[in-house]
Amino acid sequence: MDKAQQDALKKAAGIEAAKLIQDGMIAGLGTGSTVRFLVDELGRRVQEEGLKFTGVTTSRRTQEQAEGYGIKIVNIDDVDHIDITIDGADEVDKNFNGIKGGGAALLWEKIVAINSNKVVWIVDQSKVVDTIGKFPLPVEVIPFGNGQVIRKFEAKGYKPTLRLDAAGKPVLTDENDYVVDLHLGRIDHPQELAEDLIHTVGVVEHGLFLNMVDQVIVGDPAGPRTLI
Ligand code: 5RP
Repeated sequence: MDKAQQDALKKAAGIEAAKLIQDGMIAGLGTGSTVRFLVDELGRRVQEEGLKFTGVTTSRRTQEQAEGYGIKIVNIDDVDHIDITIDGADEVDKNFNGIKGGGAALLWEKIVAINSNKVVWIVDQSKVVDTIGKFPLPVEVIPFGNGQVIRKFEAKGYKPTLRLDAAGKPVLTDENDYVVDLHLGRIDHPQELAEDLIHTVGVVEHGLFLNMVDQVIVGDPAGPRTLI
């Protein structure tokens, strides 16, 4: 599948998921190229159909895009609930465990997700896998002592790499943290790995999203389909 085909599937999933947002809702808006299509469609509905909803965003990027359409965005601490959050994912398996953080927004994404009544992921079909782990697992670490954390990961065989930008500088998250990607190949015991990572001092959060999604909308050449 080339990029244009993949984008078409992402767009179809985003447009399908936008139908879940109704007047008066408080909606979490994820991050990434698939969510961009979702926000484009929500922006269209706001401008052409008068849809009125309030958004809570998982990154500054998404906030800027949404506000550009006139979508009202509020701070997560200023809402008493989030009706639904729609986000992308990098991989999802048959147990609906996923990897997120390819766009370095995993921390805010996880905070928004755990505070949402319903979580929906939108993915193209290439992201539905038997076993997660081919996609490098992002881990958000604080800059201080990141080299020590990386050494610990190396010793455990996690094959870590510090994520760098085009200029060779560490990619910074919206919290000014670094991202370390673990090249694991496959993750057979995600729960155990999640426990190990979150108990490593210096790790802020990891991109394993386990038992956190209620519905997955897959962009498929035959049309968007729902997995749960
Ligand atoms: C950002 C994420 C994204 O949702 C994930 O990387 C999917 O991105 P895309 O829709 O661009 O493939 O977790 O941190």
